[in-house]
Amino acid sequence: MARVAAPVPSDAELTRAVEILRSGGLVAFPTETVYGLGADASSAPAVARLYRVKSRPVDHPVIVHVAEISGLDEWGCDIPDAARVLAGVFWPGPLTLVVARRADVGADAVTGGRPTVALRIPAQPVALALLRAFGRAIAAPSANRFGRVSPTTAAHVRHDLGSDVDLVLDGGPCAIGVESTIVDCTMGDVRILRTGGIPREGVEAMLGRRVEVATTSGGAPGTLPAHYAPDARVEIVDADDLTRRRAELTDAGRRVVVLAGVEAAHLYARLREADAAGADVVLAVLPPEDGLGAAVADRLRRAAAAGSIGGDPSP
Ligand code: TXA
Ligand code: MG
Repeated sequence: MARVAAPVPSDAELTRAVEILRSGGLVAFPTETVYGLGADASSAPAVARLYRVKSRPVDHPVIVHVAEISGLDEWGCDIPDAARVLAGVFWPGPLTLVVARRADVGADAVTGGRPTVALRIPAQPVALALLRAFGRAIAAPSANRFGRVSPTTAAHVRHDLGSDVDLVLDGGPCAIGVESTIVDCTMGDVRILRTGGIPREGVEAMLGRRVEVATTSGGAPGTLPAHYAPDARVEIVDADDLTRRRAELTDAGRRVVVLAGVEAAHLYARLREADAAGADVVLAVLPPEDGLGAAVADRLRRAAAAGSIGGDPSP
């Protein structure tokens, strides 16, 4: 199948993006996972604005994006060997490493006041070009309002944030479509805080041992039980029960969209389409939980947990 070439921002747009970042503004940019909402990670006012636009609680840290592996030692300290191995193998790529933070760099707000910092090098040409042209680290959460579905196209970002973002760089749809895998390297051992674009199996293969996925979150937003939520209520259903449950909901007057066999790259677009179609309920069948399937199942479960708090009552 012929693929349409991804759009590439012009040099003039990149220059403007850098000017905006230097003056404390916000630039949304594509990464291979989801679109990020970028601010100068060293500027306290810029990071404060980032939190306001996201409506994000100030104690929830954001990821610091860097262009080079040396960013690990510029921002972190006491880096364990496992973190160096994973950075060497997976950067640039959809892997975020949490390490002890150097006290003398960056805006405190970036780390939500924590003694640790989350770092990653994105594998997306526009993101890397922006980081290199800016010459400093960029703090960037996903470019959606707190708790909602992450954006995987420039149009999603404009729809969510409108004029609250100074510039949106368009790099086409994100290739991976779910957020980076977050690996915490600060506890003596490594553990996965959030499943994502690098499968657990890949991390384990590189370290030559099993790696746990943390069940308790310490309040990190991507790991809150209720997150990534569309307006429609998301309900998880067994494949065997899909036909019966769909009929039951439809008979009760609900508009139902079914999500089964969805790939990571399309997950968030499908949830947004369900909202655009006016769905009351998204009936989701979880994929097998290997490879990227683990992240897809995780996001669907969190979306389901969010939907059960309010919204459409279950018939
Ligand atoms: O793929 C991604 O990671 C995207 C793109 C834009 O890079 N970014 C992203 O950012 O998903 P955000 O803010 O939506 O999620 C960041 C996650 C949150 O769960 C946050 O709590 C966690 O990273 N995090 C950041 N700093 C942390 C730290 N010091 N310790 C533990 N978790 C941290
Ligand atoms: Mg997010």
